Amino acid sequence: MIIENQEDVTQAVLAEMHRTPDARTKEILAALVRHLHALVREVKLTEHEFQAAIGYVNAIGQKTTASHNEAMLLSGSLGVSNLVCLLNNGALGTRPTQANNLGPFYRAGAPHCENGASLLRSPTPGAALEFKGFVVDDRKNPVAGADVDVWHSSTVGLYENQDPSQADMNLRGKFVTEADGSFAFRSVKPAGYPVPTDGPTGALLGAQRRHNMRPAHLHFLIYKPGFKTIASQVYDPEDPHLETDSQFGVTKALIGNYAKRGDGSFALEFTFVLEAGEARMPKAPITGKAAAA
Ligand SMILES: [Fe+2]
Repeated sequence: MIIENQEDVTQAVLAEMHRTPDARTKEILAALVRHLHALVREVKLTEHEFQAAIGYVNAIGQKTTASHNEAMLLSGSLGVSNLVCLLNNGALGTRPTQANNLGPFYRAGAPHCENGASLLRSPTPGAALEFKGFVVDDRKNPVAGADVDVWHSSTVGLYENQDPSQADMNLRGKFVTEADGSFAFRSVKPAGYPVPTDGPTGALLGAQRRHNMRPAHLHFLIYKPGFKTIASQVYDPEDPHLETDSQFGVTKALIGNYAKRGDGSFALEFTFVLEAGEARMPKAPITGKAAAA
């Protein structure tokens, strides 16, 4: 169609959708155009703002490398990651779930570990932690033979992929649940950490005067054929940023219960519930480790 005025533009773009053979692609693209055009109209986007927005979107890709995923980080900072998670888990968003954001720091290929093994692969300061997890189905029956990836940041606040001073795959490991659904590892109690602010996500947080901290947490990814694969995170109940997580990941169902022992070490137990569904491992957001400067 020939466009006469601003109102015609949306109709012209939607009209060109009719050749899209895949119904789901067509549905998503049509909604994208409707919402994007509505946003432009609502805020009366100026040409200068449009140019800035284009530069911003380009910078997301330019900032992304094998060891850093800016789009994933930005999605978390806008709450989209957790919205997608909560809509797709917990009986399609109707019940609490242990599913949580995968986050930008999952790496595939972590070393396989015996239950009870340590995640430390190079000297790592911090209070000792003994973790025991249980994987059960939605009738509380143990799920044996589930693969459980575990990863977390150091107490300095960096994942090994960000920090050349840590050994490759430090604070990462892959476990298999026992007959009673349990798995266990030793590590150090993680601290909260700042997400990187040297890219578009940092600009967003700065513009909103938001801090860039994530409350302390452990990451998990649980895979067993017959069950919906979930990423999960377990948060420290005493972290000062629990209610203002810069990635909006904290949910009530994921606040852990650390027990402090007399010797200053910590113990933590947590139960993960799997739903029946498709077992599919997510694509790792990063594939490598930052090189030493
Ligand atoms: Fe994390």
